[in-house]
Amino acid sequence: MALCEYEISPWKKDFPILNSTFINKNPLVYLDSAASAQKPEYVLNTCRKNYETEYANVHRGIHHLSEEETANFEAARIKVQNFIKAKSPKEIIFTRGATESLNLAANTLGKKILKEGDEVIISLMEHHANIVPWQLLQDEKNITIKVIPVNDDGSLDYDAFVNLLSPKTKLVAVTHMSNVLGTINPVKEITAKAHEAGAIVLLDGSQSVTHFPIDVTDIGCDFFAFSGHKLYAPTGIGVLYGREEVLEDLPPWQGGGDMIKSVTMEKSVWADIPARFEAGTPSIVQAIGLGAAIDYLNSIGMENIHAFEQNVFNFMYDEVKKIPGVRILGNAPHKGGLVSMVMENAHPQDISMILNQMGIAVRVGHHCAQPITERMGVTSSCRASLGLYNGRKDVEALVAGLWKVKEML
Ligand code: ALA
Repeated sequence: MALCEYEISPWKKDFPILNSTFINKNPLVYLDSAASAQKPEYVLNTCRKNYETEYANVHRGIHHLSEEETANFEAARIKVQNFIKAKSPKEIIFTRGATESLNLAANTLGKKILKEGDEVIISLMEHHANIVPWQLLQDEKNITIKVIPVNDDGSLDYDAFVNLLSPKTKLVAVTHMSNVLGTINPVKEITAKAHEAGAIVLLDGSQSVTHFPIDVTDIGCDFFAFSGHKLYAPTGIGVLYGREEVLEDLPPWQGGGDMIKSVTMEKSVWADIPARFEAGTPSIVQAIGLGAAIDYLNSIGMENIHAFEQNVFNFMYDEVKKIPGVRILGNAPHKGGLVSMVMENAHPQDISMILNQMGIAVRVGHHCAQPITERMGVTSSCRASLGLYNGRKDVEALVAGLWKVKEML
């Protein structure tokens, strides 16, 4: 049995909402960070101060505020670069979220490299945002999407993946960590194998980036997408990392201000990367907020966060598993961050509603990943997901809540 050393997370105090919000007189137990994480005071203060004293548009004015804000915005890009160990800030494209990052990849890389008969490999455990953009291209370009199956324990069928690779494979687009199973995929091996076959590799890092250190250079992937809002930053900001050599060759997706060098009524000349992919006024304060979130996480250390969370996760996994009639979706050896479950004689919706009455926030449904939910033999589950602010007390509240649900239903 896993022991959980930490009754209360040492970082919970940094998150105002967690220390001030009550539901039915119960303190908030927030276990929905895989959907969106709460924001530390440091990020809130940075954004507020920016709007109050530093705000202006970026890359446009030569007035003082615009120059200062441009420096703040570009400093945030460098913070992201260092956080994921990219080689250059040119490799960091700011988007409005992971979904936009993946659509940007499909609409630039996909359109540039894919032609009729080519194959894209994705996995059965993808979030809809890493399925649908490729399906849209499939219809347009007459390409084939091949799907890596998932084993009963929720691990990726690696041998099947290797067998799917062929000279027709142009792209492998898989998640680093499943938002339903918590499975962490062997992305370095996947990347190396895909590269051997001559394919480009894109990783959806929306869940992984929040739980452990990321080194895109070491992984060797060509693209890595994630959202700010799951990483304790504001909504409306995301990142698409792309390897410089690959990005240089890609056409823009959206057209507008900032993504051009010059425009005449006859033709336009595209800007250099990454501006080529950032049409229009970006999410300025949100990007600066993402930089602040990274400063905050770095002040703790992602290694420390990972060790702490894994300890809480192991405790949660073991305690939930002990409840008779509860089935956890996926028990792959390499997993963390969250537990999705179903309970005999209780609909996930009802579980979630009863937990909510006790102040416990979990997510219910297919979690925008219907294929993997169905692969696990259900249409819906109840998901408890951890952030760095959750400790043993939160897990104990969840487990007590689940026992209560069991008695009630
Ligand atoms: N993709 C987010 C989740 O898993 C919203 O809940």
